[in-house]
Amino acid sequence: MCGIFGCALKDGSAAPLIHMGLKRLEYRGYDSVGIATIQEGAVRVRKDSGKIDDVAGRLGFDEMPGSVGVGHTRWATHGAPMMVNAHPHIDCGGRIAVVHNGVIENYLELKEELINGGHNFVSRTDTEVIPHLIEEELKGGIDFGKAFLGALRRLRGSYAVAVVSSADPERIYCARNESPLVLGVSDQGVFCASDVPAMLPYTNRVAWLRNGEAAVLSADGFEVMRIEDGSPVDRGLTEVTWSLEMAEKRGYPHFMLKEIYEQPRSLRNALRLQHQYLDLLTAFLDRGRELFLVAAGTSYHACLAASYMFSKLAKLTTYPVVSSEFVERYGASVGIDSIVLTVSQSGETYDTLRAVDHARMRAATVLGITNTVGSTLTRVARAYVIQQSGPEIGVAATKTFTSQLLVLAQLALRLARTRGKVSQDEIDDLEAKLVEVPSFVERTLEGQAEHVEALARKYADERLFLFLGRGVSSATALESRLKVLEITYVPSLAYPAGESKHGPISVVEEGVPCIFICPRGETRRDIVGSIMEMKARGARIIAVCEEGDEGIIDLSDDHIEMPRGVPELLSPIIYVVPLQLLAYHLATTKGLDPDKPRNLAKSVTVP
Ligand code: F6R
Repeated sequence: MCGIFGCALKDGSAAPLIHMGLKRLEYRGYDSVGIATIQEGAVRVRKDSGKIDDVAGRLGFDEMPGSVGVGHTRWATHGAPMMVNAHPHIDCGGRIAVVHNGVIENYLELKEELINGGHNFVSRTDTEVIPHLIEEELKGGIDFGKAFLGALRRLRGSYAVAVVSSADPERIYCARNESPLVLGVSDQGVFCASDVPAMLPYTNRVAWLRNGEAAVLSADGFEVMRIEDGSPVDRGLTEVTWSLEMAEKRGYPHFMLKEIYEQPRSLRNALRLQHQYLDLLTAFLDRGRELFLVAAGTSYHACLAASYMFSKLAKLTTYPVVSSEFVERYGASVGIDSIVLTVSQSGETYDTLRAVDHARMRAATVLGITNTVGSTLTRVARAYVIQQSGPEIGVAATKTFTSQLLVLAQLALRLARTRGKVSQDEIDDLEAKLVEVPSFVERTLEGQAEHVEALARKYADERLFLFLGRGVSSATALESRLKVLEITYVPSLAYPAGESKHGPISVVEEGVPCIFICPRGETRRDIVGSIMEMKARGARIIAVCEEGDEGIIDLSDDHIEMPRGVPELLSPIIYVVPLQLLAYHLATTKGLDPDKPRNLAKSVTVP
C-alpha cells in the first residue's frame, strides 16, 4: 500500500529524513518512489519507479535542498508502475506537489471537468486531479489553506494526502479520509506519515488524524481542522511506547523470522489485556442472537478457528465470513440482533471496514479486535480490544494471527462461562491451558526449529503441497497454506480433510507432500482415515502431531512433534507455528525475500 512521509524542519534538509522515513514504510509494499521539497520558494520533484535506494542514488534524493518536503512510496492502483505515474504529482504551474494514498472514486469526472477547463494531465493516476483542483480553487484569489479544503470537498473516496506548495513554502497541508495518516512532533520539527514506525527515529509523540480532518504543519507545530467547514479540532499528542528497536529486526535476517520468534512474548501480552474490555465485549456478545466473525486473509483464518470455539463452548451460532463477501452474503439478513465481531490487524482493511459500515447501517452491534491503536476500526466499533502484538513489519502475518486467536479464545471462554453452557471443570481446564499457550509455543520453537529447517530443505523443490486438517485444524491448514503460498509462490491446496475425497484427491500422485494437522482430540480418529486415503495414492505424509503419538508417526514419512497436553480447540495457536517456520525456510531456501512477497501489501486500504 502507498506510504507517505513528510516533514517541516526548523533546520537542515528534509529530503534525507524523508528518504529514511520512506525506507521504514517499505514493508507496506511499493513499486515507485518520489520526493518533493521546496527550494527557494520553488517546488522540486524527483521520482521514478524502482527500489527506494536505487532511485534515491540515481536521482540524488539526499542532495535535494529545502527544509520542507513530502515523499511517497507508490503501490499502483491506477496506471502502471512508471515514472510518470509515481508521486508527487503537480499542477500545471508546477507550484503544488501532492502525495496520496487511497482511491479517488470520482476522479474521471473531475479529470474531464479540469481538462475542459484547460488543465493538462500527464499521468493515468487518480491522484493527479488533486493538485489541479487546488490550482483551480486558487484562481478564486483565496489563500492556500482555503483552496486545499475546497479541493478536498470535491473528492469522493479514500485518501491520505500531503501537499507542499511554493504558494505557502513553509507548510505541509495534509488530510485523511479512510486512509491512515499520523502526525508527529519533535524538537527538530513536525512530521506526517502513513504509519508510526516511519517516524519513530525522530519522535514518539504522535497524533492520529481522523476521517474528515485536515492539518497544517509547520516546523513549530500543527493545527487540525474539519474538512467540512474548516472548524478547528483540538488534538493532543499521544506518546507511543513502541521503541525504534521494537520495529527493527533485532539481529534476525528477516522481520518474519523475528516475528515468529516474538510469539511467546506477544502471546503473553495478549493474556494481559485489560479485563474490563474483555468483559465489555463479552457482555455485547451475550446479547447476540447470532455472531458474525468478519475479517480478511489471515485474520479470517483466526475467525474461522474461533467459530469452532464460540459454537462449541458458548453454543452461540457463529458465522465466519470473508469481509469482502459479507455484504453480498449476509447484508440483507444482518440486523439489530446480530453481533459483528471484526478482526483486523491493521484496523484499516478496506473490505473489512466496508462490512463494518454496512453492519452499522443495519443497526448490528460492531465489535473489533485490532493491533493498531487509533485505527479506523477502533473508532467505528462499539467496543474493541487492542491485541498488543507490537508492530508487525513482515507482510506475512504471523504473531498477529496467534494473538488474535488467543484474544478470541479468551472471549469464547468468558462467554461460555457467562452462559453456563459448558461444565465448570471443562472451562477451568481450558482456562488453565490458555495460560500455558505462550510456553507451548516457546517449547515448539526451541524443540522443532532445526528439524523444520531441515524439512524445508528436503521439500524445497516441491511444486505442490496439500494441507489437511479436521475440525478446528482445518483453519490451521488454511492459514499454513496461505503462508506457504504467499511467500514461496508454490500453488498449494488446503481443505478440511473430510472434503479431500470430494475432489482434491485427484491431484494426489506418487510423492506429493501432504501436510496433516493432527492434534489429539475428537477428530484424531477420522484424520487417520484421511491419512490412509492419501497414503494409498502415493502421497508423502508430513504429520504435525503430539509428541509420542505413535499411531500417527508410524503412518508418516516425516513428522513435527508438538508438546503434549494441547487441547484440540486451542491447537491452531500452537500448531501453526512450525508451519510458519516451514513456509519461511522454504522461501529462504528458494532465495526469496519472505518480508516482501510480490504483489502483496501489508495493509490493503483499497477496494
Ligand atoms: C497474510 C496477511 C493478509 C492479512 C489481510 C487482512 O499473511 O497478512 O492476508 O491478514 O490483508 O489484514 P488485516 O488483519 O490488517 O485486516
